[in-house]
Amino acid sequence: MMNLTPSGFMVSRVMREELQGHRGLVIWFTGLSGSGKSTLARAVEEKLHLAGCRTFVLDGDNVRLGLCRDLGFSTSDRHENIRRVGEMAKLFLEAGVITLAAFISPFADDRQRVRALFSAGDFLEIYCNAPVDVCEARDVKGLYKKARQGLIPEFTGVSSAYQAPVAPELSIDTARQTVDQSVSTIFALLQRRGFGS
Ligand code: PPS
Repeated sequence: MMNLTPSGFMVSRVMREELQGHRGLVIWFTGLSGSGKSTLARAVEEKLHLAGCRTFVLDGDNVRLGLCRDLGFSTSDRHENIRRVGEMAKLFLEAGVITLAAFISPFADDRQRVRALFSAGDFLEIYCNAPVDVCEARDVKGLYKKARQGLIPEFTGVSSAYQAPVAPELSIDTARQTVDQSVSTIFALLQRRGFGS
């Protein structure tokens, strides 16, 4: 990049973390539409918040209404969407926040590029693993129905691919587990990593 010099700050990430009493972290939820990403991100956030942690949820629908409103669902737009969100999560991490990102993020190479932005201790990938027929049966937003009618092109799981993670930090069977069970599983991992206790 030409003629750009990243500026340092007087207040560092470590100083922010010391002030608030916990480290920042990025928790990245990936999975099909209707697999429970946003539900779990919100529930985990609430529990962390009640434990005194600074948190923020970045969610596909919300981000696409603002920062990424110029993007659609073509492969290249999804690449750009996930690239922007990864960079945004990096800024939140620098701010010391526990960031819960809930994005379909269907392509393995995009997720890998996001992961590469962070050191190992700063990033957790959680796969909300529910088969498409279960997500479609739920069809909370009625999108699968529209996609089957041909009203939504390139809909993930119907007419656009979802590449399941091979080695996420957690894979949660959201088709079988209740939200409470899934939150407990995630929290157990967070506590092992020193968060929320
Ligand atoms: S991606 O693939 O990661 O860039 O998608 P994301 O930013 O997470 O946005 C997913 C939400 O957009 C709505 N929506 C679609 N999803 C998938 N495919 C198509 N074509 C599509 N069109 C709209 C949908 O509400 C998704 O939200 P979730 O929470 O996943 O259901």
